[in-house]
Amino acid sequence: MLNKIGVIGGGFIGGVLVQEIAQRRLAREVGLSDPAPFINPDDSPERQEVLKKQGVAAGKCLDIAEGLPTLRSDVKVHGSKDYSAIEGAELIINTAGVPRKARPDGTFPTREELLTINLKVTNQVAEGIKQNCPDATIISIANPLDAIVYTLNKRLNPPKNKLMGMAGVLDSGRYCYFVAEAANVSVENVNAVVLGGHGDTMVPVRSSCLIAGIPVQEFLDEETLKAIEARTRKAGGEVVGLLGFGSAFASPAWSALEMAEAIIFDKRKIMPVCAKLEGEYGENGMFVGVPGIIGKNGVEKVIQLNLTDEEKAAFAHSAGAVRKTCNEVDEMLKTL
Ligand code: LAC
Repeated sequence: MLNKIGVIGGGFIGGVLVQEIAQRRLAREVGLSDPAPFINPDDSPERQEVLKKQGVAAGKCLDIAEGLPTLRSDVKVHGSKDYSAIEGAELIINTAGVPRKARPDGTFPTREELLTINLKVTNQVAEGIKQNCPDATIISIANPLDAIVYTLNKRLNPPKNKLMGMAGVLDSGRYCYFVAEAANVSVENVNAVVLGGHGDTMVPVRSSCLIAGIPVQEFLDEETLKAIEARTRKAGGEVVGLLGFGSAFASPAWSALEMAEAIIFDKRKIMPVCAKLEGEYGENGMFVGVPGIIGKNGVEKVIQLNLTDEEKAAFAHSAGAVRKTCNEVDEMLKTL
């Protein structure tokens, strides 16, 4: 159990996180920061007064706190519109950012298209962490995932083991779910990793996909596997398309909590993580999804997989896409 976990962003993912942290008793205290609802200077003074008194973070936290007696949990839960709620946190989970929203024609922006607005948000997030919990280990979920982690690194420059992004656990979970469904077996039997950037170029690693230790190809034919891998790459968008707003929230929150629990209980659990690469997989300075050992120090080690030539090329392509977005970040940050 930690003393305190801070969650930044009180949207759907942030709400599930606070609820689960309190229910699983992962820390004595959890603080949630979110500036919503925003005050529009064009609103009437009366309306502005009403909005000033509202706070999404405080409201969600009060609701959860009032439910805790029935769960027999004494975890302290509180929210704030500023960053004071995360003061002293040892672990931060960052979800802050504008999510994808379906356009009237049913299409929706890519995660990369959220970059401009979410970089501004991330600058504030970095400042909030710097002021309130500069030594915290950080798991970031906000999109575009790899670029936001890269930005947090630029702004905070923490030890590389203490900053990571959550995407691979979610992408791998989706891959495993689709495989289990198609093979008509328990999800508990399926193991697989998805590497690379958290975008349409991500790499479901078929050579890592095993059903009860048996290669997946013994259960599913080529065509089915290709369709599953394509669906995995677009799985986040599939949920946005159905919801029409926001993003997936239960599965991303649970995935981040798998990482948080590996840190809190020093599990040294191997899972895909968006980690800083310094030579591994031929990359330098980028944060990209790779398998890592997660323990009390955060990313304890990046694991080098023996990929097939095809997988290696796909990984390089995906890392290239991440690099392109990070180059854009470098340019945009000069003006923000
Ligand atoms: C998704 C978002 C959370 O993949 O990135 O659903």
